[in-house]
Amino acid sequence: MREGIEGKVCLVTGAAGGIGSATARLFARQGAAVALFDRDEDGVTRLAADLNAEGLRAFGAAMDVRDLAAYTQAVERTEREFGGLDFIVNVAGGGSRQTLATMSSDDWHAIVDLNLTGPFNSIKAGAPALRRRGGGAIVTVASLAALTMSMNNGLSYTAAKAGVLGLTRHAAFELGRDNIRVNAVLPGPVLTPQMQAKLSPEKLAAVPKTLPLGRWVKAEEVAAPILFFCSPMSSACTGTHVVIDCGLHVGAPTSRDEYERSRDFQASAS
Ligand SMILES: NC(=O)c1ccc[n+]([C@@H]2O[C@H](COP(=O)([O-])OP(=O)(O)OC[C@H]3O[C@@H](n4cnc5c(N)ncnc54)[C@H](O)[C@@H]3O)[C@@H](O)[C@H]2O)c1
Repeated sequence: MREGIEGKVCLVTGAAGGIGSATARLFARQGAAVALFDRDEDGVTRLAADLNAEGLRAFGAAMDVRDLAAYTQAVERTEREFGGLDFIVNVAGGGSRQTLATMSSDDWHAIVDLNLTGPFNSIKAGAPALRRRGGGAIVTVASLAALTMSMNNGLSYTAAKAGVLGLTRHAAFELGRDNIRVNAVLPGPVLTPQMQAKLSPEKLAAVPKTLPLGRWVKAEEVAAPILFFCSPMSSACTGTHVVIDCGLHVGAPTSRDEYERSRDFQASAS
């Protein structure tokens, strides 16, 4: 899918993390120059050096997506280094496990700032740069929790990710006439190093059992639809989203094994 990606410039936030680094690698290997930002400066600097060693165009720098002025500087630096900006992928995000009972007002604002204000800043800071190129694409990273609820994170995360979908739709309307498309990806359970560190071995083994595909999503499988939303293959898509969850959204209440056992029972009863 190099067409429409090769020679373009893509800014990725959260690029030191699981999905962000997979996205950065995919765009760079498809011929885009990639500007990698994260609050983890070492992580993005290392990734950029790895990509440079492959002969690909990348730089990495620290940035906090919650800070509009910092986002604007990141956009300006990308334009200076690579001569313009075509795509913005706002991956940075994360949750807290606080419940309604334990969540303070500060906890709430911290999660909403990261997961909803961050994508707003990407659009606010980035749209003028994309307009200067005659158009482009912005991809926000929400979550299946935007349509359901998060089991790993608290209600602030569910609410913020649902807000990302509203932001994506409304920005798509306002930016359509500038030839800027805005779309969202909704990952389900993605097995990133950070997820592996967070969950017990029992939970890691239990998650895939109710999924139609019977396995975790790989970070690269989220990067691919992000690339699709930036490429001309999705030229008529804006304000929409794709769910990438190995089928979690179908909502199977039991494991596949239990489902088969219940069918055996019904077959022998009839
Ligand atoms: N892993 C999953 O199962 C899953 C599922 C649904 C949605 N998501 C979403 O996908 C995105 C990436 O998730 P991941 O699993 O790769 O997580 P990750 O923790 O591996 O990566 C997140 C990255 O964001 C960076 N970051 C955090 N706060 C930041 C800030 N204020 N400014 C700049 N960078 C910041 C972190 O340093 C980290 O590198 C997040 O938005 C997450 O909510 C993940």
